Amino acid sequence: MQTLKIENLKVAYGGAQILHGVSLEVNEKEAVAVLGPNGAGKTTLMRAITGLAPITGGDVFYQEESVKKMKPYQFVGKGIMHCLENRRLFSEFTVKDNLMMGAYALNNKSEVEKNLETCFEIFPILKERLSQISQTMSGGEQQMIAIARGLMSSPKVLLLDEPSVGLAQIVKEKIFEGLDKIKKQGVTILLVEQDAVMAMGIADRIYIMESGKVVLSGSRSEMKDNPYVKNIYLGIA
Ligand SMILES: Nc1ncnc2c1ncn2[C@@H]1O[C@H](COP(=O)(O)OP(=O)(O)OP(=O)(O)O)[C@@H](O)[C@H]1O
Ligand SMILES: [Mg+2]
Repeated sequence: MQTLKIENLKVAYGGAQILHGVSLEVNEKEAVAVLGPNGAGKTTLMRAITGLAPITGGDVFYQEESVKKMKPYQFVGKGIMHCLENRRLFSEFTVKDNLMMGAYALNNKSEVEKNLETCFEIFPILKERLSQISQTMSGGEQQMIAIARGLMSSPKVLLLDEPSVGLAQIVKEKIFEGLDKIKKQGVTILLVEQDAVMAMGIADRIYIMESGKVVLSGSRSEMKDNPYVKNIYLGIA
């Protein structure tokens, strides 16, 4: 079943057209990656999906219902959790506080406990560091908090904007191992990434965005064999 459908989406800031009619689909329990260079409009796309960027045309459907007019805070209740670019942690608060803030919309205590256990399974370091102040955690650990906080809301869909940016290879691998576990638990993932190799490790399908347009899309295996993707995104001559 189709979970998210983005249809001919256009976004403009003032007079500047940023997205020129982007269409993409994410099926239930799929992981889909959007790759593209700086300034391609990847963050704008993610923000437009959850009502944070001004849509000037096209539509966004979640489970076949238009969500274009929904307010940003309404998405969590629908099961769509957007982990924004740059983590956005409450940096003066502990790891535990940050995680619990992700669960603010849940009333069921046992669900919160269960989600916390899931976070510990996915990123075990968090369990050891629950009382540490978030800003004293390493960059990679802070990214783990941001993803885990997203999971605390019991999402059906997780939107992730560059989870591996600025991290060393070994840390990126840990983050992506975690994302793979999240995927295997049945969470649908839409991921924006600049590290094409990492993204292709978990994505079932991939879209390439350049200058506010989708220029290429396909399954992981199709994209791995595509000469343009190999050359520009995977650095294989
Ligand atoms: N709030 C805004 N006001 C005006 N222009 C904006 C705004 N947000 C983004 N833009 C412009 O939209 C374009 C796309 O930016 P966006 O952040 O979506 O790119 P990106 O693909 O996420 O890039 P990166 O890989 O560097 O994160 C850029 O030219 C940017 O300057
Ligand atoms: Mg971005």
